[in-house]
Amino acid sequence: MASFIFSFFLYSFFLHAFISAASNYHTTSALSSVSSSGSSTPSSNSTTHRRHKWVGPSGHRLIRVDVHGHGDFRSVQAAVDSVPEGNRMNVLIQISAGCYIEKVTVPASKPYITFQGEGRDVTVIEWHDRACDRGPDGQQLRTYHSASVSVFAPYFTARNISFKNTAPAPMPGMQGWQAVAFRISGDKAFLSGCGFYGAQDTLCDDAGRHYFKECYIEGSIDFIFGNGRSMYKDCELHSIATRFGSIAAQDRNIADEKTGFAFVNCRVTGTGPLYVGRAMGQYSRIVYAYTYFDDVVAHGGWDDWDHVSNKNKTVFFGVYKCYGPGAGAVRGVSWARELDYDTAHPFLAKSFVNGRHWISPSDA
Ligand SMILES: *[C@@H]1O[C@H](CO)[C@@H](O)[C@H](O)[C@H]1NC(C)=O
Ligand SMILES: *[C@@H]1O[C@H](CO)[C@@H](O)[C@H](O)[C@H]1NC(C)=O
Ligand SMILES: *[C@@H]1O[C@H](CO)[C@@H](O)[C@H](O)[C@H]1NC(C)=O
Repeated sequence: MASFIFSFFLYSFFLHAFISAASNYHTTSALSSVSSSGSSTPSSNSTTHRRHKWVGPSGHRLIRVDVHGHGDFRSVQAAVDSVPEGNRMNVLIQISAGCYIEKVTVPASKPYITFQGEGRDVTVIEWHDRACDRGPDGQQLRTYHSASVSVFAPYFTARNISFKNTAPAPMPGMQGWQAVAFRISGDKAFLSGCGFYGAQDTLCDDAGRHYFKECYIEGSIDFIFGNGRSMYKDCELHSIATRFGSIAAQDRNIADEKTGFAFVNCRVTGTGPLYVGRAMGQYSRIVYAYTYFDDVVAHGGWDDWDHVSNKNKTVFFGVYKCYGPGAGAVRGVSWARELDYDTAHPFLAKSFVNGRHWISPSDA
């Protein structure tokens, strides 16, 4: 066991040094695309201000996608391609029950798109790329480009649909088998009733503010990772780890950055032993509140990533009113704190992601 744990960390460390390099690049590009949409760009220059003034969407367009040919398109990407750059309408893409075997990208220039399935058990988009697979240019894809579905646009919504990466789960020690099902790099994304299925690195919560409601997220190692500022409300986090796993790897790297993952009223189930959080970034921030833990949590509960950079002194790992047979282990290290109400409060409501301004009261 000890040697396994050692190789697990060694291999995680190697892979995540690699992930971090990719992350920096993509986070930058994602954020610049967000600010070019202008919704939150402060400016003292009135010329600039006028040019970037935020104009919300107006009008509605419905696009039907049906894999059997009874819609406007058979593929989800074809529907996205039909939306013009600089889109200003609410575009509802209704996706019939069925399995859509394709890789899908929603570019930054196409805000206000909704993917609506007929239920997360019946409408599925899936692909099977791994980080070590080669792209069209002959280069390895790397983790962030392995995603089956990637969203760079702001104001993306998904309801009642699943996203899968069907690449086989890696055995411990395998390198380059990260396989992302869904990557969200756009700001102000709302996901409700969705499923995310993969093994290592299932959900890339890369950058921007996101709200996940009543979602099911399945994976093995670091299966929710990135530097998003996200609330996960009423979600099930399900581990399929065979020997060791971890739920969340949050990549906050600056002390006053507002990013972090807040899990509120969630359920942790599946197989273990499982770390509930890992310090991907020096100032990693992860909070679990009102969450149920099955008896799957690893001794200690949390992991500092590399045992050399003293992240245990700079991370913010918090627990508030959690319960279940695994909840005791979530308080297993001194640097994960049991929060009091005042400290927990900012992580308990949609204000954590400024949701009052972009999530309708009926949705959150
Ligand atoms: C405001 O921005 C415009 C466009 O970038 C620039 O041409 C102009 O000089 C700026 N004005 C001031 C007062 O900074
Ligand atoms: C999504 O599924 C839930 C549960 O099956 C259902 O109550 C809801 O109406 C669905 N929403 C949409 C937009 O289809
Ligand atoms: C924190 O991590 C350092 C190594 O980075 C280790 O030496 C130290 O014992 C850890 N402290 C605690 C309280 O776990």
